[in-house]
Order: sequence, then structure tokens, then C-alpha cells
Amino acid sequence: MTYEELMQKAIEVSKNSYSPYSKFAVGACLETVNGKIYTGCNFENSSFGMTICAERNAVGSAIADGEQKIKAIAIYSPNQDNCAPCGACRQVLHEFCDRDEDVAIILKNGNELKIYTLAQLLPESFNL
Ligand code: THU
Repeated sequence: MTYEELMQKAIEVSKNSYSPYSKFAVGACLETVNGKIYTGCNFENSSFGMTICAERNAVGSAIADGEQKIKAIAIYSPNQDNCAPCGACRQVLHEFCDRDEDVAIILKNGNELKIYTLAQLLPESFNL
């Protein structure tokens, strides 16, 4: 899929966000190295710490379907330009990134897409 198409799916799924507490909707759409596509949105809880971010929701769907290598992920919030993944999600993405490849992180800034690599957003990352 093109980055534009991934972003379009992230925009669509952000509409399903359950975020009554923060009122901050997020959608994510990832592509695996096998070309499979998974989406996720954030969902919150009255016990705030149980909130799941959009990115981790998408990653969970990929894992449940047997896909463990992420190639690219588009992230979108209608509330904020350039909605970048939180630190926890960066670490989770890193877990499912091919060691020799990098993950493209696709953000939306107005009408423009901004492309980062996970290595840019998570330098000197932790590995076991
Ligand atoms: N959120 C995400 O979905 N992804 C991120 O990377 C950052 C934050 C959600 C969590 C919460 O529902 C709302 O945005 C405000 O923090």
C-alpha cells in the first residue's frame, strides 16, 4: 500500500476511537513485511491507566494474525498535526521491527505526510 493509503485507513479507524476522557482520538494503520494491513484506534477506560493506544491496538491485531514484522505504520489524530507515537508505543514497535530493516512512521501535517524512521524516533533503543 502507498503511504497515502495507509494514512487514509488510519484516518478512517480514528473515527472508532473510544476516548471519552481525553477526547483525543487516534487511529493507526500498519503494514507488515508480508503486505498485510492492520488497523487500531485508542480505547480508554475509567481506570485511566488501562488505556490502550491506537498503535498497540494495531500491533496486537497483527500479532494475533501471526504477523510479527512491521514495515510501516501511519498514525493520525484529528486533534493534532504530526501526532507522533508515545514512548511506550515506540518500544513496542521496535519489538516487531525487522532487525535489518527500519519501520517507516507516517504522520500527517496538514495536507502533507511526514515520514520518519523508527530509528530516528527511538535512537539507542533497548534490546535483549
Ligand atoms: N494515544 C495513542 O493512541 N497513541 C499514542 O501514541 C499517544 C496517545 C492516546 C491515548 C489516550 O487515549 C489519548 O491518546 C490521550 O493520551
